[in-house]
Amino acid sequence: MAAVKIGLLGFGTVGRGVYKVLNSHREKIYNTLGVEVEIAKVLVRNLEKYQKTYPELSNLFTENPREVIDDPEIKIVVEVMGGIKPALDYVLQAMQNGKSVITANKDMVAEHGRELFATHEEQGVDFLFEASVAGGIPIIRTLKESLAGNNFKEVIGIINGTTNYMLTKMSLYGAPYEEVLKEAQEKGYAEADPTSDVEGFDAARKLAILASIAFNSRVTFKDVYAEGITRITPIDIQYARELGGVIKLLGIAKEDEEGIEVRVHPTIIPQSHPLAAVNDVFNAIFVEGDAVGPLMFYGRGAGEFPTASAVVGDIIEAVKNISHHDTGRIGCTCYLEKPVKPIGE
Ligand code: NAP
Ligand code: HSE
Repeated sequence: MAAVKIGLLGFGTVGRGVYKVLNSHREKIYNTLGVEVEIAKVLVRNLEKYQKTYPELSNLFTENPREVIDDPEIKIVVEVMGGIKPALDYVLQAMQNGKSVITANKDMVAEHGRELFATHEEQGVDFLFEASVAGGIPIIRTLKESLAGNNFKEVIGIINGTTNYMLTKMSLYGAPYEEVLKEAQEKGYAEADPTSDVEGFDAARKLAILASIAFNSRVTFKDVYAEGITRITPIDIQYARELGGVIKLLGIAKEDEEGIEVRVHPTIIPQSHPLAAVNDVFNAIFVEGDAVGPLMFYGRGAGEFPTASAVVGDIIEAVKNISHHDTGRIGCTCYLEKPVKPIGE
C-alpha cells in the first residue's frame, strides 16, 4: 500500500509536535501499521514567515486551504490551527470530501459537536479528538471504548494545564500571577488567547466533551458554569494552606435522577486528596464506573509533545481504519527482535 498522506492545518505548538513525533517515530509507526505515513501539505496563514523559519519544509507549506481539503491524495486532515472560524468549515468540508479528520480543538468540538458528529456519521469517515481533552492523557478513547461497559455517576478533574501550572507556582513559590501566566505562554501551554485558560472556559469546554461521553449525552460549553482563577489572590492561597488545603481549578460533572450538573471553579481540596498532588502542567481525571470502580488518569495536560502524542495516536487509529477499508487488514504484526536481558546470572 502507498504511503498514507496527511494534511496539517496549522503549524504552531501542536502542529510542529505532530510533525516531529511522526518523523522521529517513523520506524515504529511503520512497524505498527505496515504502511508509511507522510505529511504532504501544511496550511499556514503567512507562507513567507514559515518558509523563512523552516526552509527545509518550504515545499510543504501552503496558504491555500483548498490544496489540503480538496486534494484527493490526502486521506487524513489534522486540524491544529484552533478557533471556530474557519477551522469548522475546513473540517466539515474535509469530511464531506471523504477524508478522516483529527482535531485538538476543544472549542470546536464542545460548541459544534452535533454538526461534526452528524457529518462524521453521514460520511462514514473517522472524526477523532483525543488531544482536545487533557493533552497527552488518553481519556477519550478509554471512556468511549475500554470503559464502554460502565455507567458513570461523576467525572472530576484538573483539566487545564496552564492554570494548574500557575496555581502550583503561586502556591509553592509565591510567584506573581502575571509572571506565571507569561511562563505558561512561553512554554506553549496557554491558548492563543489565554483568557480562555484563566477564566475557566478552556476547562469548561473539555468538561462538556467529557460529560457528553461519560453520560452518553450532548453537553455543550453553554451548559457549563465556569469560573476561573483571575480572582485568586496570595491571601486565598494562604487561607487554604492554613485550613490544610490547596486551591485547584476543578472540572466537576455529575449525573443524578434530576439531570447532569457541570461546573468549573477554584476549589479548596485537602492536602491529603490525590488531586492535591497534581502539580505543574499535569492534569488528572477521576472517574467512577459502576463495573470497574474508581479510576484516576494522570499525565501532562498541555505542551508540544504530550499533545502530539495524542494526535499521533489518533492518526494511527485513522490509518488502521483506512487500511482495513482498502485491504481488509488492520495494522501489522511486525515486531523487532530485541535481546531480553537475563536476571540474576
Ligand atoms: P498555535 O501555537 O497558536 O498554532 C496555531 C497554528 O495555526 C499556527 O501555525 C497559526 O499560524 C495557524 N493558523 C491559525 N489560524 C489559521 C488560519 N486561519 N489559516 C491558516 N493557519 C492558521 O496553537 P497550538 O497551541 O498549536 O494549538 C492548536 C490547537 O490545539 C488549538 O485548538 C488548541 O486549543 C489545541 N491544543 C493545544 C494544546 C497545547 O498545549 N498548545 C494542547 C491541546 C490542544 P500563525 O502562526 O500564522 O498564526
Ligand atoms: N491551554 C490548554 C491547557 C492546552 O493549558 O490545558 C491543552 O488543552
